[in-house]
Amino acid sequence: MLTTPLTRRFGLSAPVVGAPMAGVAGGALARAVSLGGGLGMIGVGSTTPASFVVEQCAIPRAEALPFGVGLMAWALPDRPDLLEATIDATPDLVSISFGDPAPWVPRLHDAGIAVAAQVNTVADVHRALAAGVDVVVAQGSEAGGHTGHRATLPLLQEVLALTDRPVLAAGGIATGAGVAAVLAAGAAGAWIGTPLLSCPEGLNSPAARARVRAAAGEDTVLTRSFDVAQRLPWPERWPGRALENEFSRTWHGREAELARDDAAAQRVADARQTDDLEQAPLYAGESVGLVTAERPAADVVRDLTAGAEAALRRVAGLLG
Ligand SMILES: Cc1cc2nc3c(=O)[nH]c(=O)nc-3n(C[C@H](O)[C@H](O)[C@H](O)COP(=O)(O)O)c2cc1C
Repeated sequence: MLTTPLTRRFGLSAPVVGAPMAGVAGGALARAVSLGGGLGMIGVGSTTPASFVVEQCAIPRAEALPFGVGLMAWALPDRPDLLEATIDATPDLVSISFGDPAPWVPRLHDAGIAVAAQVNTVADVHRALAAGVDVVVAQGSEAGGHTGHRATLPLLQEVLALTDRPVLAAGGIATGAGVAAVLAAGAAGAWIGTPLLSCPEGLNSPAARARVRAAAGEDTVLTRSFDVAQRLPWPERWPGRALENEFSRTWHGREAELARDDAAAQRVADARQTDDLEQAPLYAGESVGLVTAERPAADVVRDLTAGAEAALRRVAGLLG
């Protein structure tokens, strides 16, 4: 049994958070992660309807399982309905990432909800701590989805030196030994997204899951091209790590041109409807090469935890 400030605070048996992944992590995936002993989160994007939050949160709540919701700070000024729906759903944890969490923390704390923030720079850490977040998530650029430019391990070490609050590591962790590594560094747990991209409980399609299983760790690209194509107002400092495909090979690095090309934008919009994986974004991190089988999320979490325990015992054997 692994016990950390994260497991104690949320009553977990695994020091693992299932990352909020818009388009993949709904209530079923969050439920499955929590059944495995971790804390499952539901991902909410900038265009997600508030009704999605209501419906998906009801799934883990129906079984009194712990769960969280992940919101994007930059989207909230235009989408106060997402914050309201989230508060009404009474999750155990809400993450406010990709922007300043300060405006939203008091409302969440007043509702008795713990707040996490993913951080990508030291300035982000200071901002999150000043905002009063309860959990800091050091997200390295190895991560799938939107992320910054610092690697997980050096960023994690800097964050740990700056706070006594629980710190989680995100980005590139996909084995028990990987979980053990960040625990040994001082993290209270791992925040994992990519290892859950081939779980049957996800909202992603079977074809997307198969594509994930076939991909190697070298096959990702950190790019703004998909956001530009979708005309999403993502701040430039957070590109997204996705599997390379025909679209990214054509447009990555040519974003200014892409911003004026409505035909290319339409192709991505259509591709998202038809699940054309050569034109639509499939966000995944560098640990994708380690995801080779379709497995229930609870099994993924249990294996990570058992593997972490075994690795920590092995490491203890190095002493003396
Ligand atoms: C498909 C996908 C979608 C994501 N969507 C979100 C999101 O909606 N909100 C968020 O805060 N993070 C999102 N992320 C980032 C994750 O929270 C997390 O930082 C990342 O998955 C951790 O790294 P890993 O992918 O290497 O495990 C997403 C990641 C992926 C892979």
